Amino acid sequence: MIRGFLFDLDGVLVDTAQYHFLAWQRMAAELGIHFGEAENEQLKGVSRAESLNRILAWGGKSISDAEKQHWMTLKNEWYLELVRGMPADDYLPGAHEFLRASRAAGIKVALGSASKNAPLILERLGWIPLFDALVDGNVVTASKPDPEVFLEGARRLDLKPEECVVFEDSEAGVEAARRGGMKVVGIGQGLDADLLVTGLDRLTPEQVAHL
Ligand code: BG6
Ligand code: MG
Repeated sequence: MIRGFLFDLDGVLVDTAQYHFLAWQRMAAELGIHFGEAENEQLKGVSRAESLNRILAWGGKSISDAEKQHWMTLKNEWYLELVRGMPADDYLPGAHEFLRASRAAGIKVALGSASKNAPLILERLGWIPLFDALVDGNVVTASKPDPEVFLEGARRLDLKPEECVVFEDSEAGVEAARRGGMKVVGIGQGLDADLLVTGLDRLTPEQVAHL
């Protein structure tokens, strides 16, 4: 029986995935590394440090830890600049309604995001009270596709993994959910999910609970 939903943030609830892309692209350009949509797809759901390592590897560059820190700080400043330009009530179609309907249907709700900026984004939206538990990049140590973020979410909801469904827009996240023993709703295209939809506006919590 499904009793909990675990939501990724970027690309599932809010359209911030595009800002991560633009900020990494700006950094890659400064380092003289090609970074397009195909590369970006492989970074979705992946932590900031691991994303940087992958971009450097693609570009065949090796830099010191201090330089890595410098670029991660800059990338995050660029990302936050873009976020600040986003209206405070800007979220993906159906996201707010789906979160509220989930709780109204008696389903426990947790965040399972790789982002260290997740609390800030949820605060801007005023959505913190919509969650029973928040697990983000400040809490976990292993990057998706490691299942840590979702296993911790289930644990904090006091549920077994098989009682939870994960909502994900990334390949790394779908794999993390599978490795954690959870069902997955994929948001977007081409994901190997139990159910694939273009957005949360296409679904009701009841449909998902019957997966
Ligand atoms: C994930 C995004 O949610 O968070 C990734 O899909 C991002 O693109 C990762 O790199 C880490 O985010 P942040 O905000 O901690 O840099
Ligand atoms: Mg995502």
